[in-house]
Amino acid sequence: MAAAFDRLDFDGVLVLGAGLAGLSAALAASPRPVLVMSAAALGDGCSSAWAQGGVAVALSPDDSPSLHAQDTVAAGAGLVDPERAARLTAEGPEAVMRLIAFGAPFDRDADGHLVQSLEAAHGRARVARVKGDQAGGAIMTAVTRAALADPAIDVWSQARARRLLKDASGRVRGALVEREGGVMVAVTASAVVLATGGVGGLYADTTTPAAVRGEGLGLAAQAGAVITDAEFVQFHPTAMDFGQDPAPLATEALRGEGARLIDRDGHPFMAAHDVRGELAPRDVVARAIHRQRATGGGAFLDARSAVGAHFPEAFPAVFAACMANGLDPRNAPIPVAPAVHYHMGGVETDEDGRTSLAGLYAAGECASAGVHGANRLASNSLLEAAVFGARAGRAAALEVDPATEPLAARPAPDLAPSALKRLRDAMSRDVGVERDAGGLSRALGVIRALEAAHGDAPTLTCARLIVEGALARRESRGAHFRLDFPETDAIPVHSRTTLTTAPEPAPPGDGVRSFDHVPA
Ligand code: SIN
Repeated sequence: MAAAFDRLDFDGVLVLGAGLAGLSAALAASPRPVLVMSAAALGDGCSSAWAQGGVAVALSPDDSPSLHAQDTVAAGAGLVDPERAARLTAEGPEAVMRLIAFGAPFDRDADGHLVQSLEAAHGRARVARVKGDQAGGAIMTAVTRAALADPAIDVWSQARARRLLKDASGRVRGALVEREGGVMVAVTASAVVLATGGVGGLYADTTTPAAVRGEGLGLAAQAGAVITDAEFVQFHPTAMDFGQDPAPLATEALRGEGARLIDRDGHPFMAAHDVRGELAPRDVVARAIHRQRATGGGAFLDARSAVGAHFPEAFPAVFAACMANGLDPRNAPIPVAPAVHYHMGGVETDEDGRTSLAGLYAAGECASAGVHGANRLASNSLLEAAVFGARAGRAAALEVDPATEPLAARPAPDLAPSALKRLRDAMSRDVGVERDAGGLSRALGVIRALEAAHGDAPTLTCARLIVEGALARRESRGAHFRLDFPETDAIPVHSRTTLTTAPEPAPPGDGVRSFDHVPA
């Protein structure tokens, strides 16, 4: 191990990331000792805390986990693993009870039952919410409190992984962690759980914290983990178009309450795109709004009659964001545009979060656990974080410390702000709601130029895998829409790839890495 770094040998579980997946893993791994790395102050900087919708879970008498699983499979456009969806939805009620036990204050009706709301592409009202649009923050407050109260869990705030450490056998042994002030510590552990979140910050238009930019996925790929379906990036249709970075979200629950999408002349336009109108799947609505804006018609979310005077109590976060931008949504439609919201692809895992690398687990948005396919169903992400985060934590806690020595490693480079801006602009311009070979190749050129100048920054590795996956997938499916390949292939395939840890051979043909395309 390079002597320049401090060293901590830890016989327990190292969790990288402190959103809902990371803390669910930590709480499930306890009483085994757990060390959690939170890139920001604990409870800040993770997408979970910003989630507005809630947790999708089948609880009402006219619903069942199998109906929820059916909707999950249908939304995923052929790429959801039905067994994983069945597990996710069957374990949902227990996961929600756990969140309630931690103190999550879900809304209840007069009889004490959880209130369940409708969101797009769900056949039933099954989203458990907190005060309209406060679910993510309230759940994270409860889970953070529980983690801090657990004597087995230690948290380092302002600490992020800069490289995964492996031993000579290829097993992941820990991580090189940068602490506040730039102090670098080599932490070895019995197992590592990657829960670093998604990729929103790779794009100029995002609804997620800008610091969440695919670093965990990039680090895992650089360590040789199998990455699946990286090209599937979900765009939320109704980010508020006020020019803010990140863009505030107008939750899909507003459309569940009856809010309409209208053009600048006040005409509803969704019926022309899909018979399900405003409640069509998220990719369909995102493309309709994208085209509406591209052709100059404009796109606005009109919640004046659906929510109206109740806005301040019914959707406090949306209301506050509108008012801060000088727009009162009780009286005026909200300008909206699609923005990156979620990454369906990620580090391939089994149902217990095991990746292709011994000693490495993954959970939440950085993972690809088979439940989102090409298009995640609304409010299934907090559910996945709670269910599969806990499963990964339980499995990781069973790992025995191999007591092997990690190989020497150097921290991965960071991107300077100007390089990051160039990357984000290229991703938003060329790797967006609609893609084609010309734009994707242009984005790949930008990434290669940045790699030549800045080295193997994990953000660049992650961006490259998204773009290369999008170039290699010559069809349109779910959130991945190719203008030059608009049809959907009859046989759905997953794309899988592994970076070699040795220098990569020149890619064949059109200069793009080859992917294994394996039937779903
Ligand atoms: C929303 O509230 O519209 C977002 C919910 C989700 O992404 O699951």
